[in-house]
Amino acid sequence: MAHDHSVVDKVQSLNDIVEIISSYIPLKRAGRSFKALCPFHKEKTPSFIVNPDKQIFHCFGCNAGGDVFTFLMKHENMTFPEALRNLAERVNFKLPEQSSRSKEEVSKQQGLLAIYEKAYEYYRSVYEDSQKGARARQYVKDRGFSEDTAKAFGLGYALDAWRGLFEFLAKKDFPQSSILSSGLIQRSSDGNPYDLFRGRLIFPIWNSQGKVIAFGGRILTSELPKYVNSPESELFKKRSELYGLNLAKRHIPDTRRQLLVVEGYFDLIRLHEAGFKNSVATLGTALTEDHARLIHRYADEAVLVFDPDAAGEAASLRGLDIFLEEGLNVKLLTLPAGFDPDDFIWKKSREAFLERLEGAEDLFDFKLRVLNKRYPKDDSLGLVKVTTEIMDTLGHVKSQILLDRYIQKLSEAMRISEPSIRLELNKMRAKHRIKGENQTLSNRVAADPKFPADNIEATIIALLLSNTALIGQASAEIEPLQFRHPLSRTVLETLIDIYNEQGQSFTLPQVLNRLPDEATKAFLSRITFFEVNDAECEKAFRDCLTAFTKRALKERMDKVQGAIREAERNGEETGMLVREYQNLLLQAK
Ligand code: UTP
Ligand code: MN
Repeated sequence: MAHDHSVVDKVQSLNDIVEIISSYIPLKRAGRSFKALCPFHKEKTPSFIVNPDKQIFHCFGCNAGGDVFTFLMKHENMTFPEALRNLAERVNFKLPEQSSRSKEEVSKQQGLLAIYEKAYEYYRSVYEDSQKGARARQYVKDRGFSEDTAKAFGLGYALDAWRGLFEFLAKKDFPQSSILSSGLIQRSSDGNPYDLFRGRLIFPIWNSQGKVIAFGGRILTSELPKYVNSPESELFKKRSELYGLNLAKRHIPDTRRQLLVVEGYFDLIRLHEAGFKNSVATLGTALTEDHARLIHRYADEAVLVFDPDAAGEAASLRGLDIFLEEGLNVKLLTLPAGFDPDDFIWKKSREAFLERLEGAEDLFDFKLRVLNKRYPKDDSLGLVKVTTEIMDTLGHVKSQILLDRYIQKLSEAMRISEPSIRLELNKMRAKHRIKGENQTLSNRVAADPKFPADNIEATIIALLLSNTALIGQASAEIEPLQFRHPLSRTVLETLIDIYNEQGQSFTLPQVLNRLPDEATKAFLSRITFFEVNDAECEKAFRDCLTAFTKRALKERMDKVQGAIREAERNGEETGMLVREYQNLLLQAK
C-alpha cells in the first residue's frame, strides 16, 4: 500500500522514538543512546540500542531494527497503517482521510458495507419469519443447534426465489449499479438481475471489527455446490480473514493466549456452542501468512484442528512453517477418521473434545512423526531425508526458546547429538547468508565479521549516509543493479531516488519510511551505527568505488572466461569472447 511520504514523515517527526519505546520497555541511558534488554529475543545483557539523534533502534543480538513504525509493527504486531494511525493519535495529528486511498474508493467501500448490512438484516428477518424461515430453522435444529446460537451467529435464510434480496435492496433506494457491484446480485445473460443465494442458510462473515463483509450460504438439500460464498471484494479477502474472530477475540484467556483454528462454518459454531469460544475458522482455504499474523495479534498459540485425511495432513505441515515464522507456538488436534470438529462434539461430547485438546500434539512432534512414517529410519537415506526436511523447518523458527526445545526433541527422536544438529543448522544458515568479502579496504567502516552483507556495498552505503553529498557521484558511477546483495541494492536505489527528489538534505527516517520491508530497514538501521568522520569520508568513498569497479570487472572477466571454456568444449567460435576478454584485461590495468 502506498502512503503519502509527507504524511508519514510528519507523523514520524512528531513522535520521539525514545518516548514511544520507553512506553513499552524500560530504557537506560548509555552515552548519547539508550540501552535495553531486547524485547525481540531472549538475552541477559542488553544489546538493544535506541539512538535518539537518528530516531532508530537496533538490536545487535538478533539484528532487529528500524524506526518507530518498525518498532510498533514488531512489538505490537501492527500493520503499517495501524502503526501510522496509532502514532498519529498519540500526538493528535489528524491523518488526511485515508491517506492511501482515494475518496472515491472509500465511499465505494462504505456503499458496499451499507448494502451488506442491509442484506444481513434481510436474511435475518426471513430466517425469523414464522413461515418463510421455518425450513431453515428446522435444519439448524436438526443439526443440533439452539436458537440462541443461531442468533449469536446471525444466521439468516435466503428464500428459494430469484429476486428476494434484489427487490428488497431496490426498495431501500440503493442505486442499481451499487446493488449489482455488491456481488450479491448477479445478472443473467439477457441482463436480468437475480439473487446469488437462493434456498440457502446464510452465515454472515464479520471482520474483526464486527462489520459484515461477506456471506456464506449452505444448501439445505444434498445438491451441489454445498456452500456458496459471496465474492472477494475490496472488503473481503478470504486469505486474510478468519471467520468468528470478532467473537473469539473476547474469549482468549490471559493465562493461556490460545486460539483454536478449524475449517468450516458449522465446526466453528459448534465449538463456540460447546464453550470453546476461543476458536476461529479459515473457511476452507489453506492457512496463509496473513492468517498467522492475524492470530498472533490476539494469541501466542494456535491449535490447528483438522481432519486427519491426507489433505488435512499436508495443510498442517505447510501451516507449520508459516506459524513458526510468525513466532507462534503451534499444536495439532487430530480427530478420528471421518469426524470433523462439528460431528465429533455433537456425536461424542464436549468432554471428549476437551480431552483431545489437552492431548494436542506440538506440530513439530507431529511433523517428525509423519516424516518418520514416510521414510524408514533404519535406512540411512531415509534418515538424511527426515533430517533435511525437519532442519528446513528449524530454519524458520523465530523464537530461541522454541528452537532449543525442538533441537532437543530432534536429537532424542533421531539419536543425533545436539551439537551436530546445531552445526548443521549453522551451516544451513550460512549458506543462505551472503558471504562477506575478504577484500581489505583502507577504511574500517564495515569490518564487522557479523555484517549481514557484502562489505564493499555496505561500506558505500554507510559513506553515503555519512555524507549525503556523495550520492550524486555514486549515482553517476554505480548502477544499483551492480550491487549483489538485494538489501544494499534496495537501499542504494532508495537513496538515489530521494536524492534526485530532494537533494542532499533529507533525514534518516525519511529513507527508512521508503524501504519496502522489515529486513531492509533492519539492514539500514545497522549500517547507521558505523560512523565515519567527514575527513575520512571522501577518501574512503574513492577507495570503495575503485574496489567496487575492480570487483565488477573481475566478475565480468570470470564470466567471459567461463564462456570461452564452454565454447571451446563445444567446438564453437571463440573469437568475439577472446576479444572481449582482452578488452577487460586492458581496463583492469
Ligand atoms: P466441508 O466440506 O468439510 O464442509 O468444508 P463442512 O464444513 O463439514 O460442512 P457441513 O458440516 O457439511 O455443513 C469445509 C469448509 O470449506 C468451505 C466452507 O467454508 C466449509 O465450511 N467450503 C466447502 C466451501 O466454501 N465451498 C464448498 O463447496 C465446500
Ligand atoms: Mn461438517
